[in-house]
Amino acid sequence: MKQDIPALSPASRAAPLIDPFARPISYLRVSVTDRCDFRCVYCMSENMTFLPKKELLTLEELDRMCSSFISLGVEKLRITGGEPLVRRDIMTFFNSMSRHLESGALKELTLTTNGSQLARFADQLYAAGVRRVNISLDTLDEQKFADITRWGRLPQVLKGIEAAKRAGLRVKINTVALKGFNEDELFALAEWCEAEDMDLTFIEVMPMGDIGNEDRIDQYWPLKDLRARLAERYTLKDLAHRTGGPARYVELEETGQQIGFITPLTHNFCESCNRVRLTCTGELFMCLGQEDNADLRAPLRAHPDDDAPLEEAIREAIARKPKGHDFDYSRQDVAGKVSRHMSHTGG
Ligand code: GTP
Ligand code: 5AD
Ligand code: SF4
Repeated sequence: MKQDIPALSPASRAAPLIDPFARPISYLRVSVTDRCDFRCVYCMSENMTFLPKKELLTLEELDRMCSSFISLGVEKLRITGGEPLVRRDIMTFFNSMSRHLESGALKELTLTTNGSQLARFADQLYAAGVRRVNISLDTLDEQKFADITRWGRLPQVLKGIEAAKRAGLRVKINTVALKGFNEDELFALAEWCEAEDMDLTFIEVMPMGDIGNEDRIDQYWPLKDLRARLAERYTLKDLAHRTGGPARYVELEETGQQIGFITPLTHNFCESCNRVRLTCTGELFMCLGQEDNADLRAPLRAHPDDDAPLEEAIREAIARKPKGHDFDYSRQDVAGKVSRHMSHTGG
C-alpha cells in the first residue's frame, strides 16, 4: 500500500530512472493541452471532443510534476500539445521552468508547435531559456496547407517561423511524409530549409487514433522510398551522430545539408528510447505506441505537501516501460494501432 512506502531518502531520490531494458529515462515530453487550433487530417478527426477544463492539471500541478521528474534525473523537457501555445497563461509555466535551467538540473527546455502562435510568443520563449523549437509543417503550398491542417493558414505559420528565427531560436521543421500529398515537394522542402538555415526531419505516419474516413495505408509514404527519391539527386551519407531523439541523419554531400528521418515503421528505434510522456491530465504513457499508462494525478493531489508518493508512482511506472511499439503496416491491414490520438500525448 502507498502509505507503507517510506519517504525516499535524498540518496535514493537522486538515483536516475532506469527502465527494465536498462534504458536511462532522461527526457520528458509534457502535453499541456489536448486542444489545437488546427485539425491536421492524419492527427485529428474534424469533430474532436476535448477534455473538460477541470480535468486538466493546473499550471502549478504541471510545475510540481515536472520538477519531480527533474529531481529524478530528467534533463530534457519538451512541451507539446495539442498545440502547447494555445494553453492559457502557458508562459507562466515556461517562466517557472527556467529556474531548472538556471540551476543546471535541466539541460534543455523546448517545445513542438504548429507555429501558429509563434509570432506572439517567440521572444518570450527565448527569454525563458528556450533555444530550439520543432515546428510541424508538411507543405509549402498554401492551398495544400489549408487542406491538410483543415483550419491552419500557411502565411501565419511562416510569420511564426520568421519570428522564431528573429528571436534567436534554432528551428527544426518536422514533416510527416504523406503519399500523394507532399511527395512532389521533397526537394522544395529540403531546399527551403537549407536556404533558411533550418533543420529538417521527415516522419513516417503512425496509426494513432481514429481520424474519420482517411486510411493510414493510403497515407503511408515509407521513408526508405523518400530516401531513394532524394538519392536520385544527391549523394547521401549516413551520419552516426544522434540528438537524443529517434531521428537518424543523412548528409547530402553536394550541399552539406543534414536531413533527419524518424522511421517507426521501416526501422524501429525503440532500443535507444529515453523518453516518457505526460498528458495534460497527469497520465504517464511509457511508450507512444502502447496503451498502458500510470495515473500520476492521484498521488500528486492526494499529497499536496509531500512529493515522495508521486516519485514512487513515477518509479513504479518506469518499471513497466515496455520494450517498444507494435506499429506494423507490412500486412494488408494496419497492426499495432493505438486508440488515442497523437494530440493526447503530443507525439
Ligand atoms: P529532437 O529533440 O529535435 O531530437 O526532437 P524529438 O524527435 O525528440 O521530438 P519531436 O517533437 O520533433 O518528434 C517528432 C516526432 O517524432 C514526434 O511528434 C513523433 O511523431 C515522433 N516521435 C518522437 N519520439 C518518438 C518515439 O519515442 N516513438 C515514436 N514511435 N515516435 C516518436
Ligand atoms: N503519425 C506521425 N506523426 C504525426 N503527427 C501527428 N499525428 C501523427 C501521426 N499519426 C506529428 C505532427 C507533429 C508531431 C507532434 O506529430 O505533424 O509534427
Ligand atoms: Fe494540431 Fe499538431 Fe495535431 Fe496538427 S498535428 S492537429 S497541429 S496537434
